[in-house]
Amino acid sequence: MTQRWDTLLVNARLATFAGSEPYGLIEHGALAWAGGRIAFCGPVGDLPGRPMELAEHVLDLDGGLVTPGLIDCHTHLVFAGNRANEFDMRLKGASYEAIARAGGGIVSTVRAVREATEARLFAQSAPRARALIADGVTTVEIKSGYGLELQAERRMLRVARELGVQLGVCVRTTFIGLHALPTEHKDDRPGYVDKVCDEMLPLLAAEGLVDAVDAFCEGIGFDREETRRVFERAHALGLPVKLHAEQLSDMDGAALVAEYGGLSADHLEHLSESGVRAMAEAGTVAVLLPGAFYALRETKLPPLDALREHRVPIAIATDLNPGTSPLLSLRMAAGMACTLFRMTPEEALAGITVHAARALGLSDRGTLEPGKRADIAVWNVQDPAELCYWIGGPLLRQSHVAGRRLA
Ligand code: NIG
Ligand code: FE
Repeated sequence: MTQRWDTLLVNARLATFAGSEPYGLIEHGALAWAGGRIAFCGPVGDLPGRPMELAEHVLDLDGGLVTPGLIDCHTHLVFAGNRANEFDMRLKGASYEAIARAGGGIVSTVRAVREATEARLFAQSAPRARALIADGVTTVEIKSGYGLELQAERRMLRVARELGVQLGVCVRTTFIGLHALPTEHKDDRPGYVDKVCDEMLPLLAAEGLVDAVDAFCEGIGFDREETRRVFERAHALGLPVKLHAEQLSDMDGAALVAEYGGLSADHLEHLSESGVRAMAEAGTVAVLLPGAFYALRETKLPPLDALREHRVPIAIATDLNPGTSPLLSLRMAAGMACTLFRMTPEEALAGITVHAARALGLSDRGTLEPGKRADIAVWNVQDPAELCYWIGGPLLRQSHVAGRRLA
């Protein structure tokens, strides 16, 4: 062996999410990394020498569980204020749509974000990112969409990037200009769509602030033609697309995002069989968001059986946002996917690792395999299903991003 590994974990249960075993499990496993990449992943017995000679640091986990670092592939975690008042209103019978149509909902967070300085936005958002990290997240997607004008959208995206720099978590940014119609454009929808497509998106993309483009295709959001326009522009700029689709009604949005080879269609409670087929053909990931289902007290379940039958990869995310999903734990989202959607713990955990990586277009992480980035979560439990079973609690022992200690 030419180079010693940086770190070697021994006597671990490795849930690799690769291979044919349930959870890709390797018992009595060893995992090592060097230069930020996984260098060894297999049974302890296959190590090419004595642990102390192989690596700088050796940690005996005594049967403890190791998984890929968790990936939250759908959040709106940069925002100001909160909407606990709307929670109260919904409990008294008001619907999410009625609150939005009456001038609350997304645009009320827009008011708070527009008033916030970049520093304030960062200060309010950092604890949310820290909460996700404390529960095992190593990669997080963060959307804009509460600015709805150039400067405020830029501030949101800059704060998202800065969270990655300051906290050490890997951040992927998504521009969602078509999230809601800002009040100053209430009599001029086409003008706003033009502004998003012709000014905001190209400028922010040129500044390197945009990794992907999303939209809210819904009765209270934007229609298919408006969504298509922003997808066309994203396509021209070489940016991948994804979509908030079929959350409150069936707008056939999943088929639209599939038509553009989209990374993912997200929410999907009202997804039709033809939408499932379109996603399967395009390789578009289904991102299910049980936090929003729970908080809105939805009853219509996403079509799990059809997604399974057509082999659409299913990811799970927090959708962390102030309106529909103030959920600060991705592990909890996976647990909810089991309890509310009847997914198996294995499906739910694949949904926050390997399939979540795919939903972000990232092929360098999401599994434990040699050559992948050393994004690792080490847990205080032994059975992978426990990650879905325990509701809350400090289960994470440590995490690493590209081999660097994160939590
Ligand atoms: O994913 N549905 C659109 N966007 C968010 C909600 C945003 C909000 O209400 O602030 C969602 O549920
Ligand atoms: Fe969302």
